[in-house]
Amino acid sequence: MEIIRSIAEMREFSRNCTKYGRSLGFVPTMGALHAGHISLIERSCRDNDVTVISIFVNPRQFMQSEDFDQYPRDEAGDLEKAEAAGVDAVFLPEVDEIYGRECLTSVYVASLSETLCGISRGTGHFRWVCTIVCKLFNIVQPGTAYFGQKDAQQALIIGRMVEDLNIPVEVMLCPTARDTSGLALSSRNVRLTPKQREAATCLYQALCEARRALRKGEKASMILIELMTEIIEKQPGAEIDYLQIVAPGTLQEVEWVDDLVLIAGAIRVGEVRLIDNLIVHPEHGPWSELPEEEQH
Ligand code: PAF
Repeated sequence: MEIIRSIAEMREFSRNCTKYGRSLGFVPTMGALHAGHISLIERSCRDNDVTVISIFVNPRQFMQSEDFDQYPRDEAGDLEKAEAAGVDAVFLPEVDEIYGRECLTSVYVASLSETLCGISRGTGHFRWVCTIVCKLFNIVQPGTAYFGQKDAQQALIIGRMVEDLNIPVEVMLCPTARDTSGLALSSRNVRLTPKQREAATCLYQALCEARRALRKGEKASMILIELMTEIIEKQPGAEIDYLQIVAPGTLQEVEWVDDLVLIAGAIRVGEVRLIDNLIVHPEHGPWSELPEEEQH
């Protein structure tokens, strides 16, 4: 596995791949790799001849400096996990390599960046996610890039950026990886105490409850959100940031669910902000293909 720290070397690596007709899959990460990242890497390895990941904790997408300072970092552990998962090259630039020269340009996907996490984290968050992802796409030049559904809003915004700017990268949305309790895997989970980790599962339970009610015929978003709110408010230590039911294409709220929806939520458990979501259709959808016990 190659470890690449400069933009020039990364470009050279990609040029060599494409020169010999090899397909290049890319998983952008901020490190602290967990089973969710590994499932994206494995998917890329299955689909492509060569898999590259980036590890870069992008300072600009953090709207509060404490969150950036506290973001978990484990370079040695990440490199070990990446190699074991079959990664061919890791792009690991320093902040100066990426932003050394004053960056006067940014990429902003209007409207989609202004809902859900765009409200609680500030619109600057997605502006700098898009800008870094656009820079990484230009540096790594992958054919396909893999993103997890846990960050559905991020993936949808990046998909729209790619479409609007004609960036020749296919964006793949892959299923959320969960632990046995249902908690969505996230690098931030390492900051939870065992008790907080247990409390954090209330978000997934709330999402599942909304899906169950929807399947039983409850189509009013207000009622579905009330059901979710009740579950989370019962959980000591968990505080709701937002719970919303939106159309996946526009991320605008829907009052009545009669088509595919994204049921999305964010909660705070102690100092840690966690997000999760389910993509659900009222009559048919991913849940109907799952065994009954996995639908709960
Ligand atoms: O999801 C993440 O880890 C980050 O937002 C990303 C896509 C690597 C951009 O910094």
